[in-house]
Amino acid sequence: MQAREPQPILASITEAAIFLTLTVELGAQEGVRDLLSDVSGLRRSVGFRIPEAELTCVAGVGAALWDRLFGVPRPAGLHPFRELNGSRHSASATPGDLFFHIRAHRLDLCFELAQLLTARLNPYAQVADEVHGFRSFDERDLLGFVDGTENPEGSAGRAAVLIDEEDPEFAGGSYVVAQKYLHDLQAWNALTVEEQERAFGRTKLSDVEFPDELKPANSHLALNTIVDENGEQQQIMRFNMPFGRVGAGEFGTYFVGYVRGPEVIEQMLENMFIGRPPGSYDRILDFSTAVTGNLFFVPTLDFLDNPPTRARAAVRSTEDAPVSSDGSLGIGGLKGSSPAA
Ligand code: HEM
Repeated sequence: MQAREPQPILASITEAAIFLTLTVELGAQEGVRDLLSDVSGLRRSVGFRIPEAELTCVAGVGAALWDRLFGVPRPAGLHPFRELNGSRHSASATPGDLFFHIRAHRLDLCFELAQLLTARLNPYAQVADEVHGFRSFDERDLLGFVDGTENPEGSAGRAAVLIDEEDPEFAGGSYVVAQKYLHDLQAWNALTVEEQERAFGRTKLSDVEFPDELKPANSHLALNTIVDENGEQQQIMRFNMPFGRVGAGEFGTYFVGYVRGPEVIEQMLENMFIGRPPGSYDRILDFSTAVTGNLFFVPTLDFLDNPPTRARAAVRSTEDAPVSSDGSLGIGGLKGSSPAA
């Protein structure tokens, strides 16, 4: 199989990020397809002048927009974000067709690229959510804990996020789950440090994981450690960023997690919101409310630079795979998807 170039998902940690979620107007497919093929060029226009700022942009496409732009084949795991309603906390699905994760060591470059992208998309798409994240000193989130330590490194990182032979048509692509969380810092800071550490299952100052036997079952780490049938830990790659407005009392974490199959993050979310066992939900949710929720497919750079038209994608799929009379491919993970607009 010819190696396809992934988008720069595994870029190193940066000081700034802008997360843009957009909804696409009906009938705007041509304009959006054109813009997608120009994302790399626009990034170069901004980033080339200040290479040390390491500007990157990852673009993602939601399930409904995928159907409108490309039809079949559809990436095997792409479907609308699955909502979860636990006994106390909910993870809702919110509007989102397109996603841009823009990162650089300087916010000005992220902002310039966000401006160029939204100007180009202006007649075709509306910004549904925009978050400007910053890297906090010590890599801490606004709950005061070091965030990102257990991300897989090197080849383990690539193996965690990049699709391989399980979906050859989309090999080199990935999935991203994005959720904006708002924290009740007053309530969180009323806890003792020991109580906060039990909520995470990790020490606060020294960032050391509790031994398994001391990790409460409802701690963030216990619930987010999942293993497959061979006992192997399932990994994802997180690039969370703090954001907020002190005057408005807004303090948040933008969760962004990449994975080669969304079922891994979906299992983590189920553990967090429903609980493992049900009812034993993630303690950090008592201080963190998810206000957005989306799943996007992240195609390869090759696909993005030269996106197929809907007709071409359909022709390719009839050559490659049997399509049933209703036009569906019968691949896993398509249940519950919204109809093509
Ligand atoms: C309010 C939002 C969140 C905050 C503040 C947060 C914070 C943290 C912190 C501080 C850690 C420990 C250090 C580390 O990064 O390894 C952690 C670990 C982790 N988090 Fe989160 N997180 C949030 C949401 C999520 C969500 C929504 C998921 C997945 C659906 C998730 C998955 C994980 C995983 C997989 C680990 C590593 C577990 C391990 O291997 O030990 N987090 N998170």
